[in-house]
Amino acid sequence: MIDVISSPDKNSSRHTAVVGLQWGDEGKGKIVDLLTSKHDVIVRYNGGANAGHTLVVGDEKYALHLIPAGILYPDKCCVIANGVVVDPQKLVEEMDALHARGIEVGDNLCISDRAHVVMPYHKEHDAALEDVLASKAFEDDVDLSLGTTKRGIGPAYADKVHRSTAIRMGDLLDEANLHRRLRVICSLRTAELAALGVQAPPLDPDELTQRYSALGRRLKPHITDTTYLLHDCLKDGRSLLFEGANACLLDIDHGTYPYVTSSNCSVLGIPAGTGIPGRHIQNVIGIMKAYTTRVGEGPIPTEQVNEIGERIRERGHEYGTTTNRPRRCGWLDLVAVRYSAMICGVTSIACMLLDVLSGFDELKVCTHYKLTDGTITDRFIPDARRLEGVQPIYETMPGWSEEIDETTDRAALPENARGYLDRIEQIVGVPIGIISVGPERTQTVVEV
Ligand code: GDP
Ligand code: IMO
Ligand code: MG
Repeated sequence: MIDVISSPDKNSSRHTAVVGLQWGDEGKGKIVDLLTSKHDVIVRYNGGANAGHTLVVGDEKYALHLIPAGILYPDKCCVIANGVVVDPQKLVEEMDALHARGIEVGDNLCISDRAHVVMPYHKEHDAALEDVLASKAFEDDVDLSLGTTKRGIGPAYADKVHRSTAIRMGDLLDEANLHRRLRVICSLRTAELAALGVQAPPLDPDELTQRYSALGRRLKPHITDTTYLLHDCLKDGRSLLFEGANACLLDIDHGTYPYVTSSNCSVLGIPAGTGIPGRHIQNVIGIMKAYTTRVGEGPIPTEQVNEIGERIRERGHEYGTTTNRPRRCGWLDLVAVRYSAMICGVTSIACMLLDVLSGFDELKVCTHYKLTDGTITDRFIPDARRLEGVQPIYETMPGWSEEIDETTDRAALPENARGYLDRIEQIVGVPIGIISVGPERTQTVVEV
């Protein structure tokens, strides 16, 4: 079925990356699930439980946060590689929830011993810092909060960079060493949390050691050196599917800083986050909504705070998978998508949620920005402060009235829907290989 994945040499294995081209929630989970049948190993390389990837199969809906979206296929191997920050408590809950629904998570899940651990104090720190910043307790009422998911992502990656106070998955397997480290860490973190106004008993190293060693024992069968595992897979001719979490415009280096997450969520994060050199990846599928959404703070040049935005939100059920927050909605920003496609080396686009746009008389796509000094540019500005001032310049296209959620052939789409897709391809300069017209696996148009 899926010929968007191609290889110059039909006999060699084909490795594919799936990456979000906007601000997240583009439908990566659906496409990873779909492409899993054509790959052997599905690899998460970045982020943590801030991700929420939804899969819909028949009447069943699954929301995955840490476990790769290939898990519904029992014969595939799912890998949480070294670049991910793992909340072991959440991971075990996710495994148990899948088990309760008849999905087994056994040998088919491998976790890097070098993936960093999200500890309870990381989550408390994330939430407390956001609250303090949002409370405008500081001079001039400046609100520096980011609207994070409060899953402890930033503080856990900060510890990774600090090194001395970090804990990795492998550390959960050595109780005595964990206890020694936690005695120091707990005393430092208790003071930091108190400074942020958290009123709670001091962190207890004995209790935390017991709880996290128990989680380590539970996860031990899965914890391994995933870098060698993945290279062994390459040698054996098995094909890898990399599942990006978050999205290119949330990338710590290339996104709308500081309103980003704390990892390299573009394709550039794959080599560091897995140990696999980027040259192995032939196919990069950029996942793009037919419009724009974002959760949390930060600029969206094409945001529609009006009935257009509300209509998109209601038709697209645009409420966060992880936090249930309403997503901010707007017209498709092709300046942003073209930039992400460039950064990620996208070879094919999956255009998602096209069905949501049925019923609009006309549709707009942003092709350029007008800067505050009047200059017109087709270049994205990966800096939140400068992006805030731009005016989007739109091209207007006719909409279509028909519902398209049962269409399985691009040629059978309404003429104006085809025109919309054709124009996206022209402006971005990358072919659209997958069109999604509903959340279900089957509601997908695949171009051959
Ligand atoms: P991810 O984080 O990129 O995996 O995306 P999310 O799962 O957070 O959000 C995408 C949402 O859109 C989920 O609720 C999906 O079930 C849903 N979805 C995916 N593709 C389509 C589509 O083509 N049409 C509609 N209506 N919903 C879709
Ligand atoms: P998936 O994989 C949408 C956003 C948060 C916030 C910012 C920083 O489901 O597409 P963090 O908790 O990471 O420190 O929050 O990044 N964010 C996402 N938004 N989808 C995601 O993941 C996101 N992951 C992080 O809303 O604005
Ligand atoms: Mg999501």
